[in-house]
Amino acid sequence: MLGLFAWRLFCVLVCCGVGHSERNVLLIIADDAGFETDVYNNTVVQTPHLRALSQRSLIFKNAFTTVSSCSPSRSTILTGLPQHQNGMYGLHQGVHHFNSFDGVRSLPLLLKEANILTGIVGKKHVGPGPVYPFDFAYTEETNSVLQVGRNITKIKLLVRKFFQSQRERSGEEIEERPFFLYVAFHDPHRCGHSQPQYGAFCEKFGNGESGMGRIPDWEPKYYSPDQVKVPDFIPDTPAARADIAAQYTTVSRLDQGIGLVLQELRDAGFENDTLVIYSSDNGIPFPNGRTNLYGSGVMEPMLISSPEHRQRQGQISQAYVSLLDITPTILDWFSLPYPSYSISGGHPVQLTGRSLLPALISEPSWVAVYASQSLHEVTMYYPMRSVHQGPYRLLHNMHYRMPFPIDQDFYVSPTFQDLLNRTRTGQPTGWFKTLNEYYYRARWELFDTRSDPTERRNLAGDPAYAQVLESLRAQLLKWQWRTEDPWVCEPDAVLEAKLEPQCRPLYNGL
Ligand SMILES: *[C@@H]1O[C@H](CO)[C@@H](O)[C@H](O)[C@H]1NC(C)=O
Ligand SMILES: *[C@@H]1O[C@H](CO)[C@@H](O)[C@H](O)[C@H]1NC(C)=O
Ligand SMILES: *[C@@H]1O[C@H](CO)[C@@H](O)[C@H](O)[C@H]1NC(C)=O
Ligand SMILES: *[C@@H]1O[C@H](CO)[C@@H](O)[C@H](O)[C@H]1NC(C)=O
Repeated sequence: MLGLFAWRLFCVLVCCGVGHSERNVLLIIADDAGFETDVYNNTVVQTPHLRALSQRSLIFKNAFTTVSSCSPSRSTILTGLPQHQNGMYGLHQGVHHFNSFDGVRSLPLLLKEANILTGIVGKKHVGPGPVYPFDFAYTEETNSVLQVGRNITKIKLLVRKFFQSQRERSGEEIEERPFFLYVAFHDPHRCGHSQPQYGAFCEKFGNGESGMGRIPDWEPKYYSPDQVKVPDFIPDTPAARADIAAQYTTVSRLDQGIGLVLQELRDAGFENDTLVIYSSDNGIPFPNGRTNLYGSGVMEPMLISSPEHRQRQGQISQAYVSLLDITPTILDWFSLPYPSYSISGGHPVQLTGRSLLPALISEPSWVAVYASQSLHEVTMYYPMRSVHQGPYRLLHNMHYRMPFPIDQDFYVSPTFQDLLNRTRTGQPTGWFKTLNEYYYRARWELFDTRSDPTERRNLAGDPAYAQVLESLRAQLLKWQWRTEDPWVCEPDAVLEAKLEPQCRPLYNGL
């Protein structure tokens, strides 16, 4: 009897231990989330679950997206390639469905080929399907995005179902496949232009009031407009404050959702072999935020929690990291190589991001990140490229003679409507720039974020910074060539790409 008991115990400890997949990934991406969490010192918004995760994570203070737009950003997360290289130039939805190139070898594709179970719950917003395959998918393609992206009870149950399916698929409990689960919340995105009945940030959806339905696991948190912290790039007006208070309520739902997802991970027994990454796709949907390559449009929260790297848990890293690093990080975690192949038929594709796992051991000296934006909505053509090196941010606004375009969702937001009204009627806007300055930008914008954190003073024309400008321009161009950017010669030359790729001058006065 004792022998059998000992054998059983041995089986529990060893057989299951060995059979248990050793390394998994849970990637959590929020939608338009920023620094509205006490992890980043906003003490007003209640985000205890993000706080708890951060205590087991390395907290990146300088994480950036390469593109401040949903689908393009998600495509870079899932391919490691900037939008101009993977082809997802703008938003994937509706009749304007931008897609990545058919030949792109995405992260889910590579993981699937390596027999890793892939799952997505929430907002997918990238395509085409064959480039982004998932074994288990509950997304806006087949469900209501409110349900799979904002109903945290539904999300919890889907995550539970994923873990159950992971067990069932593998049949014998001894042979579980490692997994990659991507939970893409739709919170705290705006919804004023699509579902205004739920409030500007869908903050009323599921709150139990009449007509709002109920999300059983959600305990809504409310904030008053005079309580909120107005970021310095947002006009400080009553309208903006009320808008931010609504955003906070939705951030609190996101936080509770993250808590539920992490609890499912724990309950399924995967806490100690799963790499957890939390970030967001782009800047918050406020003036100077989303769709901009200014810091306020591209800086992202980022937490990485590894059960195998406990040395720096709870610490803050100053290293410059990019959402382009997520694919190389996850490949590194699974010890998978990036394949050698070409998209355009020319040079082999190179990942310009890097694995972030070394940062979990000691602080690296990574000081440069790049960005590349071409469109948001189909009409919003405004190509920009940027490099952020140490304290300097350089932006190249290629089509700077056009007014900066505005998206539908942001246009109807209370903050922007108020800004338009105040500008039209000549009242003080409470903003740090005028609408005219916002629409009409210089071709080159160079900022020193040490003395000018809000990026107001353009140094591009200052002779004292001529050398900095020259060196950053050269660095940016080098990255554009390396990532096969079709816009590399814009706006004053034409790229002749065949034979010997080169820029041929247009003499157009730019
Ligand atoms: C929060 O504030 C403290 C004190 O000023 C600072 O040391 C820390 O870096 C801040 N944390 C983040 C994530 O910005
Ligand atoms: C959220 O999902 C749960 C579980 O599917 C459901 O019972 C509830 O009615 C949903 N709430 C809303 C507001 O749709
Ligand atoms: C995970 O590790 C922690 C700390 O070592 C331990 O307390 C916990 O029981 C472990 N959980 C599982 C499911 O093995
Ligand atoms: C802006 O002005 C319009 C027209 O006068 C008005 O209907 C709207 O409520 C105002 N919006 C804000 C946010 O002040």
